[in-house]
Amino acid sequence: METEKKHRLQRIEKFLQTMDQGVAIISAGAPLPKELKIDIQFRSHSSFFYFTGMEEPDAIAVFSNVHPKHRYCLFIKEADQKEKVWTGARIGLKEAQELTQADAVYPWEEFAKRLPEYLEGAKNLYYTIGNHKALDEIVLQNYHTLQRRLNYDKKVPQTIQDLEKSVETFRVIKDEKEIAAIRNSIKATQEAFFQAFQETKPGMYEYQIEALVSYIYRKAGGTCSFPSIVASADKSTILHYTNNNCQIQEGCLVLLDSGAEIEHYCADVTRTWPVSGKFTKDQRAVYEAVLAAQKKAISIIKPGVEVPNFHQTALEALIDFLIEEKILTQSKEKIIQEKLYQTYYPHSTGHFIGMDVHDIGPYYCQGKPRIFEAGMVVTVEPGLYFRLDIEGVPERFKGIGVRIEDDILVTENGHEILTKEIPKEARELEKILKQKK
Ligand code: GLY
Ligand code: MN
Ligand code: MN
Repeated sequence: METEKKHRLQRIEKFLQTMDQGVAIISAGAPLPKELKIDIQFRSHSSFFYFTGMEEPDAIAVFSNVHPKHRYCLFIKEADQKEKVWTGARIGLKEAQELTQADAVYPWEEFAKRLPEYLEGAKNLYYTIGNHKALDEIVLQNYHTLQRRLNYDKKVPQTIQDLEKSVETFRVIKDEKEIAAIRNSIKATQEAFFQAFQETKPGMYEYQIEALVSYIYRKAGGTCSFPSIVASADKSTILHYTNNNCQIQEGCLVLLDSGAEIEHYCADVTRTWPVSGKFTKDQRAVYEAVLAAQKKAISIIKPGVEVPNFHQTALEALIDFLIEEKILTQSKEKIIQEKLYQTYYPHSTGHFIGMDVHDIGPYYCQGKPRIFEAGMVVTVEPGLYFRLDIEGVPERFKGIGVRIEDDILVTENGHEILTKEIPKEARELEKILKQKK
């Protein structure tokens, strides 16, 4: 059996061992609603893909450690005649079995009929409500019906556990194959950023840089892991600016926040650079403050450290700059307590990244901070944003927005900056920009 299939089966087996007499139902998700009148490429829900390796709308995976015969079973919707004409055939039952090596593969239409057979004998049902409405209805109805049957002497699930929560412990730690996939997405992202540095010229439009990076991702067999942000001049102060339709002016900064997604794994990088090839003194001051905060935050990342600490580290470094520049005049304690920094730094310093760009895994579990472990991958992305409409900002900083973002792998002894080949030192950037054709 090919290693890829074996690897996914091992994942399922490991997951099955963590379930307490349970049955898990995972949906690939519903196709986009027909009202849209266009067919958008389907992407399976990441947890479904994690175990099955299938991009297949409506498909359902059932894992059980109590069913007498099946530990892994699939339900597949086959293409109807109309679909075959418009979008092509879907994966068939045989092909799905071949791809996944599941113990059984059934037509989707049999799910409701067969579900009681999988629920019986289980103490817990692991299911995430809300990913597929039609499926929710079937699952919840069966769950309730079984609970209320009179004279029924079989064990039936008494609780529904959020499946995403159970899968989270797995997905938050990336295995070697996943790290290799992230590196591959970063490779294309790196090429895209170098191209963007090379091609940036006054007079061009932001969307031309967007087109450039998208082309590189597509060429590598991928796509954008989220809509690229190409923000020049004061647009760089808008966090999720995606219009990308301004003409790039001489003398301003360009902020590019972008990443490739290849084979379901994402990269997410931000660089900010001067169009002219040289930072002005004020741009440089803001840039260095953000860079120092970013490096400081990265430096503390290692196994055993509480995850929220890297945000706090970056935040405090940025606040020090805002105090030094007399932009904030209150005490550091008050600035933190009353969140006065939010005018200039309104977002968090990063997120886990993997199959989803904002990947599964909160920083706190039951109110307690999560601890960094080897295999986690997190972005570190502080920024400072001096919007034109904010009062009290020194004139010299108005309209400047800087964010710097890297993807960091937690290793056994510390961390590795996976995106380290994409330059971020001001002098390195200036050097590259000077060497432009
Ligand atoms: N552009 C979204 C992010 O960096 O998280
Ligand atoms: Mn980003
Ligand atoms: Mn990010």
